[in-house]
Amino acid sequence: MSCKLGVNIDHIATIREARKIDEPDPIHAAVIAELAGAHGITVHLRGDRRHIKERDVEILKEIVKTRLNIEMAATEEMKNIALRVKPHMVTLVPENPGEVTTTGGLDVVGNEEKIRNFITALADEGIKASIFIDPVMEQIEKSFEIGCRTIEINTARYSDLTPIDLENCGRESKEEYEIIKEVAEKSYKMGIEVLAGHGLNYRNVTPIAKIEYISELNIGHSIIARASLVGLERAVREMLELLN
Ligand code: PXP
Repeated sequence: MSCKLGVNIDHIATIREARKIDEPDPIHAAVIAELAGAHGITVHLRGDRRHIKERDVEILKEIVKTRLNIEMAATEEMKNIALRVKPHMVTLVPENPGEVTTTGGLDVVGNEEKIRNFITALADEGIKASIFIDPVMEQIEKSFEIGCRTIEINTARYSDLTPIDLENCGRESKEEYEIIKEVAEKSYKMGIEVLAGHGLNYRNVTPIAKIEYISELNIGHSIIARASLVGLERAVREMLELLN
């Protein structure tokens, strides 16, 4: 079974916000990514609205034909938006003011009650919940305990250690890869649907896509970066080829 691709289109909105005008429009990007074969569209609605806005998620909910996954912090404000917009899936992520990108997975062990309430509220409305999580079994077991059946393993450390293909990287890179592989297998065997992402690019993605227990990857920056040079359709197709 080949690994599916969720395309994160946040950075189309980042370009739009550089001028604070109405183009490029992430809605157009979602349509092109889907036509190129993406299996899902992902956006991160940040508390500071630095790229994606509520207007974007509302229109995306209407026009996305595959699946819309909204990444968000586990706050009351975000819960209300999720319950109103009703995307296919919500991925809970940690959010720190001023960070350039998401740093680290969610600390489920330290925020058990808040996260349980959030995913229960989503489930009551038929919205699937996923948790962005470091490859640490203690965190994953806690997620399972509070009712979460989908996780996205944070590949940021692997990506940082593996800027080029795995074979040409050092020991730490291979060790991190083995950790992700082992954690993915254990989680899958517990009955958890396993996704992965963060920092993956055209050079380091293949070994992760080959892990049979991982069903989908969420990739943003490297696809949009390539799209700025070769076009979005080609960038998505080239990533899909690597996943297959
Ligand atoms: N998954 C999560 C939870 C993220 O927060 C991000 C970044 O928005 C990604 C995946 C995609 O990471 P990248 O843009 O590095 O591909």
